[in-house]
Amino acid sequence: MNLQELSALYPEHLATVSKRADEALARGGFDHLVVPSGTSHYQVFDDRDYPYAVNPQFKAWVPLTRNPGSWLVYTPGSKPKLIYLQPFDYWHVVPEAPSGWWVEHFDIVVIRKPAEALEHLPKNASRCAILGEPQSALGDYGAFKPNNPPAVVNYLEYHRAYKTPYEIAMMREATRRAVRGHRAAERVFRAGASEFGIHLAYCQAVGQDAAELPYNNIVALNEHGAVLHYTELGRMPPKPVRSFLIDAGASFGGYASDITRTYAAEGESDFQALIDAVDKAQLDIAQRYRAGHDYRQVHLYAHLTLSIVLKDFGILKISPEAAVETGVSSTFFPHGLGHGIGLQVHDVAGFAESDQGGTIAKPDGHPYLRLTRTLEPGMVVTNEPGLYFIDLLLDELKQGPHADSVDWSRIDAFRPYGGIRIEDDIAVTEGDPLNLTRPAFEEAAE
Ligand code: GLY
Ligand code: MN
Ligand code: MN
Repeated sequence: MNLQELSALYPEHLATVSKRADEALARGGFDHLVVPSGTSHYQVFDDRDYPYAVNPQFKAWVPLTRNPGSWLVYTPGSKPKLIYLQPFDYWHVVPEAPSGWWVEHFDIVVIRKPAEALEHLPKNASRCAILGEPQSALGDYGAFKPNNPPAVVNYLEYHRAYKTPYEIAMMREATRRAVRGHRAAERVFRAGASEFGIHLAYCQAVGQDAAELPYNNIVALNEHGAVLHYTELGRMPPKPVRSFLIDAGASFGGYASDITRTYAAEGESDFQALIDAVDKAQLDIAQRYRAGHDYRQVHLYAHLTLSIVLKDFGILKISPEAAVETGVSSTFFPHGLGHGIGLQVHDVAGFAESDQGGTIAKPDGHPYLRLTRTLEPGMVVTNEPGLYFIDLLLDELKQGPHADSVDWSRIDAFRPYGGIRIEDDIAVTEGDPLNLTRPAFEEAAE
């Protein structure tokens, strides 16, 4: 990533984040926004800690993901302050002095012990909207205990769906890194690696360990592709290897990418044809990622499009429309079409009716859809249609009233491949949808 580009884009990002904070504070009736970066947590009865996860409200301001015990303080009209914990510690590597494109925009105070933050926080905690986890509390009687006022949180979370150009640039870099991993993963899959081996090759190529990735890698050979969140990482490759589904992302400065690809082993031409059909459907669905489109309708359109694929492959015996109406399509596509993505792989406020709260309901029969808002410019949303052959759901179909709506011999032919998912991250613009993922694969192929 070109640092000059980030330096050029960051001031506008900070201005947007500050403006949102101004309004959020006004709505909540507070004078200061105070955001702890979070703390490390020990495992029960142990002195071993869980991987540290930074407070998303903190990394919205600064691209710091490994700094527990730090605080962001913003008072409208003033330069934001960063209270930066750099402990004296010979047990662990301590965070380096702050550096990067963002530093000049903050008043930075370095502290050596977590409690020293108190000296630099606003005097009156009751005038502060403090956003974070309860364990970050500081001060007598937990004065600086996060209060997470709903009016403030709702406003910030709702607007975080609209990415600044800086955030899109950060996500492009997270995508570039993930694509390196996807390329390496395909290579070692074709060379006969196990799921665990593919995972290690992925991490190596991305340059990120499992805890640094934005979510647990899904690396699934054969039938394992039918487990939507399969994270077992088998140590031995199955014999024969027929198919490979990989859902894996990467992080950059706290931003995530989320990408899925599915491959057929050499000679598996029927499954390859089904992958090609889903890929074509996915590109068609992507054309609906346009401002003004109700995402629930895009999701239902995906059901119809995938049902046409099922019909073309002789799996469905009823019409695609009837498959959507009766819910049969959900046997094969039982998750949501996509979700907002950014600082979190599943971005917040997917159902928010407005910046004051409220919920937009999911369509009946689609309990796993994670986004019901209308698409607007700046949103980044995944597009991840899939077709799966899941024993549990197929058994339900077989025992229910629609058992005759499918050709069971065709289903049995595809069961050994598990399933297909193809997932890109798409930015909604004023005009055509901007696919962040596909150009990165094309660049990597050059
Ligand atoms: N990787 C999780 C998801 O696609 O939502
Ligand atoms: Mn996803
Ligand atoms: Mn995914």
